[in-house]
Amino acid sequence: MDDESSTIEAFEELKTRSLGASDVAQIAAGTGLAVYAMWVGILQPGFRRVPLKLQVPYIPASTSQVRNVMTLLKGRKGSIVDLGSGDGRIVLEAYRHGFTPAVGFELNPWLVYLSRFKAWRTGHHEKVSYRREDFWKVDLSKCKNITVFLAPSVLSLLQKKLLAELPHDALSLKPSPDIVSLQPPHA
Ligand SMILES: C[S@@+](CC[C@H](N)C(=O)[O-])C[C@H]1O[C@@H](n2cnc3c(N)ncnc32)[C@H](O)[C@@H]1O
Repeated sequence: MDDESSTIEAFEELKTRSLGASDVAQIAAGTGLAVYAMWVGILQPGFRRVPLKLQVPYIPASTSQVRNVMTLLKGRKGSIVDLGSGDGRIVLEAYRHGFTPAVGFELNPWLVYLSRFKAWRTGHHEKVSYRREDFWKVDLSKCKNITVFLAPSVLSLLQKKLLAELPHDALSLKPSPDIVSLQPPHA
């Protein structure tokens, strides 16, 4: 039997064979391993020093959420900071709306690289900055405008940090229509 016909036969056998328990187990293990590899290699690297309860996965803001934030920022100016900036979309859009300096803090190095690439591709790389830093450790006392799109479980803790550090005229926004908070922290 030549190579070609044996390959065809192998495929035929695969097509007609029903999956047994060990096949299912192998597929499950393979999928689990792939997901784990993606988590460890791409999504998790920045989180090694962040307590589990403070870890927030990457979920990008939708176009309408970004638009919503820009609408809420209308009439304001000055610096802007996105805490957990993901791929940098809010920072970039805020810069386009006149906010400067526009800074994103993001732990995941891949997302920081992606943000910088997107800024470079749109010609704004010298205007915005993305820092690979844990925002819990960043001093926010000079920030005028803050955006956050994080898990609700983290927001109450973050509220404490914002109240303690932000200047009285700062505004912090969360980009979901239902949880927008205009927060003059010391009011
Ligand atoms: C829900 S995503 C939001 C991304 C982006 N702000 C947007 O609206 O598209 C939250 C991001 O926060 C980042 N993050 C979570 N905890 C962080 C921390 N302590 N310091 C910096 N970044 C953090 C995550 O890696 C993730 O990319």
